[in-house]
Amino acid sequence: MALAENPVQNEVDSRLAETIAILKKGLSLVRGEVALACSFSVEDIVVIDILQQVAPDVRIFALDTGRLNEETYEAAEQVSQRYGIAIDWYFPERQAVEDLERREGLFSFRESLEKRHACCHIRKIEPLQRALKGLAGWLTGLRREQSVTRNDLLAIEVDAAHGGILKLNPLLEWSEAELWQYAEQRRLPVNRLHRQGYPSIGCAPCTRAIEPGEHPRAGRWWWEDPAHKECGLHRRN
Ligand code: ADX
Ligand code: SF4
Repeated sequence: MALAENPVQNEVDSRLAETIAILKKGLSLVRGEVALACSFSVEDIVVIDILQQVAPDVRIFALDTGRLNEETYEAAEQVSQRYGIAIDWYFPERQAVEDLERREGLFSFRESLEKRHACCHIRKIEPLQRALKGLAGWLTGLRREQSVTRNDLLAIEVDAAHGGILKLNPLLEWSEAELWQYAEQRRLPVNRLHRQGYPSIGCAPCTRAIEPGEHPRAGRWWWEDPAHKECGLHRRN
């Protein structure tokens, strides 16, 4: 089938135009430095690829929770080499991790929602707060269809949970099929785990592959209710 006759391709073209418009508008509204929060999921790599076309100076940061998959570190290196970009890594506070592991062991997040949130707080939320310090805005790879918890996001919003800075979600309306069409067309260096049944990738002990037909985020914190499947990075006041 010729590209122009491919309905997904037509959708990708209009999504791309929409994303570029969101980025241009969002970046023109921000008064100060902006950075992309990158987990090296296919979403974030698509955002990086588009940013290289419209705003290559936007800084990229990543939260190394200490529990990421080896494949995620490999994807990070590949992205860094492909685009010739530096990644600003943030690590959790050493003392907090040592205290957590000595007190609770290495898998306390499986014991209760409270303990899971405590681990996410130390390994993700506190480092995110440091990463956002001094920024006027940040970008994410969030998509609306990912979760019921993401239904009411806006492409450009004021992030009240982080001091009222601007938050841009330029891929908000992309479907999974559109995302993969773009990634394949541009031969993006994607995390190998995506090909092994992981549509959504977080920390290694809290993410598993899904079965055909399961919800794309079913492998994240699989022992929890879907309404709780957030780590707090995208908490809204
Ligand atoms: S999570 O809240 O469930 O962990 P998810 O994995 O869907 O989030 O990713 C959504 C967006 O949050 C990503 O597109 C990225 O912008 C940001 N994000 C998630 N994890 C990280 C991370 N480890 N480092 C930087 N940004 C991240
Ligand atoms: Fe801890 Fe799991 Fe949250 Fe990672 S996803 S910070 S390992 S609870």
